[in-house]
Order: sequence, then structure tokens, then C-alpha cells
Amino acid sequence: MQTLLTNDPFQAATMLRSGRLVCFPTETVYGLGADAFNEDAVGRIFAAKMRPLDNPLIVHVSDPAQVKCVARHIPPAARTLIEACFPGPLSVVLPKAEAVPSIVTAGLDTVAVRMPDHDLALTFLEACNTPVAAPSANLSGRPSPTSWEAVCDDLSGRVDCLLKDGRSAKGLESTVVDCTDHSPGLLRAGAVSVERLLDLVPALRIDPIETVGELRSPGIHHPHYAPRVRVEVVERPHGTATNAERAYIGIDAPTSSAGYRLTHVCESTDEYAYCLFDFFRRAEAAGVGEIHCQRVMRHGLGRALMDRLEKAASSTA
Ligand code: TXA
Ligand code: MG
Repeated sequence: MQTLLTNDPFQAATMLRSGRLVCFPTETVYGLGADAFNEDAVGRIFAAKMRPLDNPLIVHVSDPAQVKCVARHIPPAARTLIEACFPGPLSVVLPKAEAVPSIVTAGLDTVAVRMPDHDLALTFLEACNTPVAAPSANLSGRPSPTSWEAVCDDLSGRVDCLLKDGRSAKGLESTVVDCTDHSPGLLRAGAVSVERLLDLVPALRIDPIETVGELRSPGIHHPHYAPRVRVEVVERPHGTATNAERAYIGIDAPTSSAGYRLTHVCESTDEYAYCLFDFFRRAEAAGVGEIHCQRVMRHGLGRALMDRLEKAASSTA
């Protein structure tokens, strides 16, 4: 299959409406979309990215009012989060409306919904005139793509269309919050910080990721975010004789004698998050044997960043 590259959101939306797979930019990472109500098209998402069928997809909407097309009802905590964070990098898990095909939600009776904070994505989604099911636009288990070039690396020839734009502003995926019962819980740390969520919903449970997370969010146990190169989380950059084969990303600058082949020194945790997945891919392309990633405080975006670093380190150990 030939993948059409375009800057035109209306051309991309026409393709999606006719049952095709369309990759599109968002503020978190690029997504791989299909009409959420078209079972065949959604099935092809799983094939294109070689994703296990037990990992549910996030449904993207162009307007908060569209949430009711995919959710049976909207519990109070979800209403608060939607009002405060849509559009934005937050996915809320809600009771699923009957009309949503079960392939979208991997058989769960819940559905994750998000409205991206990205002008081109919103123009595209609005023109689609249907909710769009979309996982990150990478091959399953690979780092999420934060540029259209990274989407091409993984999916060129496997999808019908790629709506091109610049780099994703956040660089890490959305925060996922389960709002299906009386005590909402965090399922995936992400670009909306836990501190912000707790301001909005003080009763939010942070622990379910470890306890019920696997049951509520089957995707969490799949290997994730991993480059083809070994990742090690380090306290600080350090010099060893073999660093010529290594890459380093972090906040502290290595001394010139540390001798890393490739380095990226970030000014802030936000910049670290913005660059991480892109750096993984650059390090792969440079042929390094190992990537040292500096540990950060689990605060603000640091929590999501540490989650991705630890998953990458354990998937490549
Ligand atoms: O930022 C993002 O969320 C990006 C962009 C494209 O929107 N999408 C993304 O999708 O990261 P994906 O499929 O790579 O990750 C979705 C996560 C998975 O961990 C999945 O298990 C969880 O959300 N999820 C989806 N639907 C769920 C549901 N009904 N209940 C619990 N977890 C769900
Ligand atoms: Mg993903």
C-alpha cells in the first residue's frame, strides 16, 4: 500500500470517512486513526501496528459534546475533568455506549475518550464528523512517534494516509484516568500532571496503576516505549571507557571526558519529555549499544517521564 503524505486535513478526513487508516498529529504524540464506528477499519489498526487485540484504543473527539456519542453516561468526576482539561492531553475512561464496536475497547465495557489540544488535529477530527479510534502511530512496543518522520519509519506502506505537521509539543502520551466508578483512579501517568488532577478531583486514587491497573487497563502489561537499544536509568552521566558506544540524555551535562557518542542535555523536565522518544530513535539510527537516561524527580511531568524510562529499561534489559 502506498501511504499518501498530505498537509490537508480535509483530504485526510475524506480518506478516514471512506474507511481508510489515517495518521495524524496531536500535542502528545502522533495517532493512527480510523472511524471508531467502522469495525473493519479499526481491525486494520491492530494489523497495521501489530498490536495485540486485548489492548483497547482511545477514541478522539473534536468537541466535548461528542463524548456522549461514545459514552453511556458521564459520571461527575469525568464531567469535572472534561470541563477543565478538554481539549488537552487527558483521556477519561467512561462506561461505553452500546454503539461503539467492542473491537475498539478490546471487549471492555468502558471506553477511553480524549480531545486533543492541537489545531490541525481538531480541524481534521471535526471534518471526520465521527469519533476517531487512535492508538499512538508506532509499531506495537516501539517508542511513540513525536514527528511525522518517525511515523513513516514505523508505518510507511502500512497505512493509507499521514497528515503531516511539526513535532508533538508534549512528546509523551496522554494521562489516562478511570472515571467509571465512584473513586476515579489514575491508569497511566502522562502529560497532565497528577498534581493538576488532584486539584480538580481530590479523591483521585494514584495507586491503581500498581494494583488494579492491569485489570482495568489491559494495555499496561504489554511491553512499551522501547527502542531497539538497551536503556539504563542512571543517577547522573558518568565516564567509563566504553561510552564511545553509548548515548546519554538528561538534565546534567556530562563532562567532556565522559565520551558519550551522542548526548542531549535538556534544560527542564518538560524539554526532556519532549525529546525522549525522538532521542531514542536518533540513538538507534546512530547505532549506539546503550542509552543512559538520567533519573528525574517524580513530580509534574517527571512522574510520566520516569514511568516511560522504567518501562523502556525493563523492556530492553
Ligand atoms: O496521547 C495519547 O494518548 C495518544 C494520542 C494518539 O492520543 N494515544 C495513545 O494511545 O497513547 P495508545 O493506544 O498508545 O495508549 C492507550 C492507552 C493504553 O495503555 C490502553 O490500554 C489504555 O490507554 N486504554 C484505552 N482504552 C482503555 C479502557 N477502556 N480502559 C482502560 N484503559 C484503556
Ligand atoms: Mg501506544
